[in-house]
Amino acid sequence: MEVTRTVAEARKACDAARSAGRSVGFVPTMGAFHEGHLSLIRRARGERDSVVVSIFVNPLQFGPGEDLARYPRDEDRDVAAAEELGVHLVFAPSVEEMYPGGEHEVTVDPGPLGDRLEGASRPGHFRGVATVVAKLFHVIGPSRAYFGEKDAQQLAVIRRMVLDLAYPVEVVGCPIVREPGGLAMSSRNAYLTPEQRDAAGCLFLALSEAAQMARSGERDGAKLVASMAREIGATSQARLDYAAVVDEETFQEVREITRPARAVVAARFGDTRLIDNLLLPVL
Ligand code: PAJ
Repeated sequence: MEVTRTVAEARKACDAARSAGRSVGFVPTMGAFHEGHLSLIRRARGERDSVVVSIFVNPLQFGPGEDLARYPRDEDRDVAAAEELGVHLVFAPSVEEMYPGGEHEVTVDPGPLGDRLEGASRPGHFRGVATVVAKLFHVIGPSRAYFGEKDAQQLAVIRRMVLDLAYPVEVVGCPIVREPGGLAMSSRNAYLTPEQRDAAGCLFLALSEAAQMARSGERDGAKLVASMAREIGATSQARLDYAAVVDEETFQEVREITRPARAVVAARFGDTRLIDNLLLPVL
């Protein structure tokens, strides 16, 4: 397995793979791998492409006062895990390598989708995500790119970017990997105290109850939202940021569930902000 730090080397390695007739599968990450990341890498490996994984904690997608400085980093462990899974190339550039112009001037505008929910709570976040993913796509040139449904709005933004900017990339959405108790795996779970970790179980509980209500025939989005807000609101260590039922593609709130919709939640546990979501059954 090769580890490259420069755009030029990464591009050369990906060009070589394509010239040898291999397509490139790509898993962009910010490192600190957990089973969620590994599931994407395994899925990519299963497609028999050359697999490229990027590890880059992208400053552009963190707002002022967010956790950029304390974001977990463990590159040696990540590289070893990637090697074990048969990854062909790890691209781990520095901030200077990715943003040689310093302060960004040209960015990718994620459109109205980038302003809703996560975008409203984290202004500029999806512009940062879309910009870095656009740039990584240019460097790596993947045929397929793998993203987790854990960040469902991010996945929707990337799908829309690929559609609107005509990227020749198939975006593959992968299911959320959860802890045995239901908590969605996240690099940010490492920040939680044991009590906060227990409390964080309320997210999946709230989503599961909403899904159960939908399964029993409840189609009123507002009733599901009220139920989720109640569940999370009743948890002493949790501070609800939002609970919503949204359209899969646009992330606009859905009044009546008549086609695939997603229940999405965000809450704070101390200083740690967690998100989760669940696809709702359509009867
Ligand atoms: P990061 O948070 O490291 O996540 C990398 C990929 O892993 C994303 O596609 C994310 O949705 C997926 N992932 C995280 N937790 C998961 C889980 N529990 N189950 C399944 N997949 C999971 O998302 C980012 O990095 C960045 O925004 C990035 C796309 C790399 C751009 O900087």
